[in-house]
Amino acid sequence: MSDAKIIDGKNIAARLVDKISDATTRLKADTQVTPGLSVVLVGEDPASQVYVRNKGKMADKCGFKSEQHTLDKDTSETDLLSLIEDLNADPTVHGILVQLPLPDHIDETKVLRLIDPAKDVDGFHPVNVGLLHSGQTDQALVPCTPAGSILLAREALGGSLSGLHAVVVGRSNIVGKPAAQLLLQENCTVTIAHSRTKNIEDVVHGADIVIAAVGRPEMIRGDWIKPGAVVIDVGINRVDAPDKGPGKTKLVGDVAYPEVANVAGAITPVPGGVGPMTIAMLMANTYTAACRLNNAEASHALDLNGAI
Ligand code: GUN
Repeated sequence: MSDAKIIDGKNIAARLVDKISDATTRLKADTQVTPGLSVVLVGEDPASQVYVRNKGKMADKCGFKSEQHTLDKDTSETDLLSLIEDLNADPTVHGILVQLPLPDHIDETKVLRLIDPAKDVDGFHPVNVGLLHSGQTDQALVPCTPAGSILLAREALGGSLSGLHAVVVGRSNIVGKPAAQLLLQENCTVTIAHSRTKNIEDVVHGADIVIAAVGRPEMIRGDWIKPGAVVIDVGINRVDAPDKGPGKTKLVGDVAYPEVANVAGAITPVPGGVGPMTIAMLMANTYTAACRLNNAEASHALDLNGAI
């Protein structure tokens, strides 16, 4: 039997989107500014097409102006860079997201660096990385998945994470490193564990909060977890599910859910945990970028510090 509280990311994300939608109604009425999100997709990767479509739908739900630029897989780097320059200069666009991965002939770093940091709603530009790492989150745009993960941990713990030991498993630039920085800002004691960490199960066992972002299906086992810990599972791995029938697959996280749920105090499911929060945080970043670019942050900022 599972004892852990299940952290309902879908529900929390829906509440956050309602909050953003209400804030957008007020922003439009007071300033005539409509937040604008521009999503750029190069090529026809089916998973990317689904993600991009969902981002557009959610932007519509928030009352934003959303547009999608779909470019042929053979688009030149020069043409993509030129589109980004146009979006940087367009005052109706406040958020620019280039869906990754890009085709091999395009230099991802070059593309991400050209995006105006004030419109970089993914939070991948070195300026935003630097602002986050130096604790200036009031000026940064912060990567969506780690930001959503921290909100879920706060919801599970009823607000403050102060003084708790957080272990982040995984050191990627997109999730592990920014998650660790955000946890530091929440006054956690932070450990980053990774594939070379010795006795990783003992390290994880010291954690009050575990953020799992390694990309290895069900790596984190029940006996690694301190009883009562909050476990946030960022992993989304598709694995074979022969029990569902020949050739069938299912999604699992980086956490062995059934056994960890027996020990943890609270846990996010996969799917329905961190995933929906990522897209909600993208909307939050777009709203924030629109406010900042129109000097409306002081009067119209989203409050993400209290309960959602
Ligand atoms: N592809 C998969 N995840 C992401 C993401 O968070 N941002 C972008 N731009 N592309 C992605």
